Amino acid sequence: MRHSLDRTRTALRDHGISEWQIEADVLLSHVIGVSRANFISLVYGAEDSLTRPQATRLKGYLDRRLSGEPLAYIVGRREFYGLDLEVNESVLIPRQETELLVEVALEYIAARVRRLDRPTVVDVGTGSGAVALALAAHTQNARIVGVDISRNALDVAVRNRDRLSAEGVEFAQCDMLDAIAGPVDVIVSNPPYIPTGTLASLAMEVRREPVVALDGGNDGLDHFRRLAIQAEETLAPGGVMAVELMPDQMNDAMSIVRRHMCNVEAVSTRLDLMGNMRALLVKMP
Ligand SMILES: C[S@@+](CC[C@H](N)C(=O)[O-])C[C@H]1O[C@@H](n2cnc3c(N)ncnc32)[C@H](O)[C@@H]1O
Repeated sequence: MRHSLDRTRTALRDHGISEWQIEADVLLSHVIGVSRANFISLVYGAEDSLTRPQATRLKGYLDRRLSGEPLAYIVGRREFYGLDLEVNESVLIPRQETELLVEVALEYIAARVRRLDRPTVVDVGTGSGAVALALAAHTQNARIVGVDISRNALDVAVRNRDRLSAEGVEFAQCDMLDAIAGPVDVIVSNPPYIPTGTLASLAMEVRREPVVALDGGNDGLDHFRRLAIQAEETLAPGGVMAVELMPDQMNDAMSIVRRHMCNVEAVSTRLDLMGNMRALLVKMP
């Protein structure tokens, strides 16, 4: 076992994969079907080697990883905000930076829950359901709806909901907020925001993710622009919209809000742990 681990680590490291140690652990524990925690104690004490089918599977996984496929797609799993989520090539792999969006949204949902019976929260571009399900895991008495244009992404979101027993979360196929009848108390979104012209220069692994989850048009703000226009119509009085964007898009995003949303009480940004502006917040009067 130790021998297989060393060889897997070396192959990943020699290929320039930065987290080669962890990734080798994850691939090997996936092959033998144990959690990473159990795997570590097992592998260090174990004399046994992999069975032949296990060794074949490991080789297959390693080849896929070395060809640029993200680890999360190979093992079919990604942890997000403490939730173990299924992911596949139909959905964006949830990112750690998106946890800021969840935190910000939870603050506003808590404030709305204190004042309203059952506020409505819509996660626009829900993908694997990561944000909607993380919100549901920490909220009671709110109606949470995740929408996405991709049917295949929604299938993953529904499976995640069912596995996590988050029965109350609704998922619907929808182009932005087109089919959502307001008023909505909190809109939360991690929309596609990569400028089309930079898609080709993204890391090979990111280019394996669905284009529909990445491509934000010329300046990366096409989806945000539509969201701002629709949010003005859809948000309830006192409602809030929280959107993840790139730090260098924030000024343009604020101009979009000023241009397209006439009736706004406040616009602000929230910094992530690295001190970068990652979430834009728009509050209605
Ligand atoms: C950046 S991904 C975010 C996925 C997930 N919320 C997360 O944070 O991991 C953007 C999502 O928006 C969806 N999307 C793209 N265009 C859309 C549209 N016009 N209406 C609704 N969803 C859309 C994509 O399918 C994708 O799932």
